[in-house]
Amino acid sequence: MARKKSILDLHKMKKTGEKVTWITAYDFPMASFAEEAGMDMILVGDSLGMVTLGYDGTIPVTMEDCISHCQAVRRGAPKTFTVGDMPFGSYQTTDADAVANACRFLKEANMDAIKLEGGIRVASKIRAITDAGIVVIGHIGLTPQSAGQLGGFKAQGLHVDSARKLIEDAIAIEEAGALILLLEAVPPELTEFIANKLSIPVYSIGAGEPCDGQLIICGDMLGMFQAFTPKFVKKYANVAEVMINAMKEYITDVKESKFPEDKHVYHIKDSKEDFEKMFAEFK
Ligand code: KIV
Repeated sequence: MARKKSILDLHKMKKTGEKVTWITAYDFPMASFAEEAGMDMILVGDSLGMVTLGYDGTIPVTMEDCISHCQAVRRGAPKTFTVGDMPFGSYQTTDADAVANACRFLKEANMDAIKLEGGIRVASKIRAITDAGIVVIGHIGLTPQSAGQLGGFKAQGLHVDSARKLIEDAIAIEEAGALILLLEAVPPELTEFIANKLSIPVYSIGAGEPCDGQLIICGDMLGMFQAFTPKFVKKYANVAEVMINAMKEYITDVKESKFPEDKHVYHIKDSKEDFEKMFAEFK
């Protein structure tokens, strides 16, 4: 297996034009599959709130949820560059809170970087966490933690004025010290402009192809998350269907006494007669 990529490798890939592959994972098995598949990066996104905890947004997700899921992912993918996502409320208060919570991702879950949402308004937090020696990934465009302010889960930067604001945010994020930028749900024309303008790698989730890499939500691409599928998702499998069909088959087998079969049981080592005698003691 290849060695774990570093931030320097990811920066080199921007220069050579090799695209970075990035996927979310929230638990040990998904992380181990991502590593085995050869993924460049993993995000333990606060989307875990929707994909694994059943909330209808990311707002309820806590630091404890994130740390626990990051720990499981790290156990599953010890050799993959893995990013912890700072949940709502963990960095919006003060620079000191932001640094303290970012440190927890490294100390308690051995993450390689943290990600936080927002542009100019979180620049002081990005600077403070960077000054603590932590790799920071910025995230602008459709930022799910501020979906309320955005009026829902809507594409951003579709008009000149909002696109200009996102370019200003992107520049501020790089100047504050972030080492990667993620763009979510913005048009490819804007993505391409920002990817060419910044010297740090720019990755896309729903922001088109012309940039340095792609992020996708594991539950979406595998067909495990059924509540809704954003326009920008390509479904590579229908794992929910496979799982539901397997469970239905199991139910039928049990009801019809077809499972377990002889090959699924442990066989006695003493004679049947000896067992009969022993059973008789209890009658
Ligand atoms: O939490 C997450 O998975 C994310 C992506 C939606 C970018 O932040």
